[in-house]
Amino acid sequence: MNNQIKDLEKNSSIKAYYLIKTKKLRLTKTNKDFLDIVFEDKTGEIGGKVWDNVEKLKDTFEEGDIVYVEGIVESFNDKNQIKVQKIRKIYEDEVDVSKILPSAEESSEEMWNKFKNIIKKNIKNPFLLKLLEKVLNKYENKFKTWPGARKVHHNYIGGLLEHTLAVVDICDFLSTKYKLDKELTIAGGILHDIGKIEEIKSEIKKEESEKGVLLGHIIIGVQILKEESEKIIGFPESLLTKLTHLIISHHGNYDFGAYQLPMTKEALALHFADFIDSQMNIFENILKNHSGDSIATDYDYRIGRKLFAGDKE
Ligand SMILES: [Fe+2]
Ligand SMILES: [Fe+2]
Repeated sequence: MNNQIKDLEKNSSIKAYYLIKTKKLRLTKTNKDFLDIVFEDKTGEIGGKVWDNVEKLKDTFEEGDIVYVEGIVESFNDKNQIKVQKIRKIYEDEVDVSKILPSAEESSEEMWNKFKNIIKKNIKNPFLLKLLEKVLNKYENKFKTWPGARKVHHNYIGGLLEHTLAVVDICDFLSTKYKLDKELTIAGGILHDIGKIEEIKSEIKKEESEKGVLLGHIIIGVQILKEESEKIIGFPESLLTKLTHLIISHHGNYDFGAYQLPMTKEALALHFADFIDSQMNIFENILKNHSGDSIATDYDYRIGRKLFAGDKE
């Protein structure tokens, strides 16, 4: 049975997994508690009501949780909503969240394999190789599902890996074109946003961590780099400094959070690789979310312009 929210039909019964977007405890006109919920999946959102067992259920799940729901689709004020009969928070690993929430197009396993192949093909320096192995082993599970950002770009399951792969691909091209130190540039590409993994607490709730607020992903990335490279005996100081420079300059200028302007060709290449991929993703999303007949999108503060949408079919 297809339980995707956009396909739900009136009077059908459902058994499905959704994200709890919002949950409010409210009172009926007769002063009885009920839960007023908005469920979400990758196809849309739908309201839902829990009328029974509210006292027992109200604290068993929270906004940002994924839940298993059974219920009936009813119509209320011409809109579908779910009359919830059963609801519970999912057990750990009960479902693949990338099937429920907006996710990168490619599966995380496919992307991870590409990632490993790029390293195998390009990285020969034993120190860089060890460093990448250590970092990727430590963060593999999170790296596979993490969003690229809370809001700005690649803000869906697997977005960080998708973005990182694209950046690495562009770094690969630019390194050949401009005869750069390819190993360094690609390693920088792989590591440039690694701090994002500790910037938010979970891939689903995307709540900021203390480190995320107080340090941000660039400084966290530098810390990870330092910590992991210290575990490798004889890791060359100059290599660590150059890699650190790639991370702290990848936002390109001070206004966008860089701690140093790119001062090597490799750092310049990484910055533009990062820039083009994040901007393309923002453009794509604005166009995808543009509805209506207007040939221009609304003004978007992130890019300081509206976009031409005349070619959208
Ligand atoms: Fe970044
Ligand atoms: Fe990035």
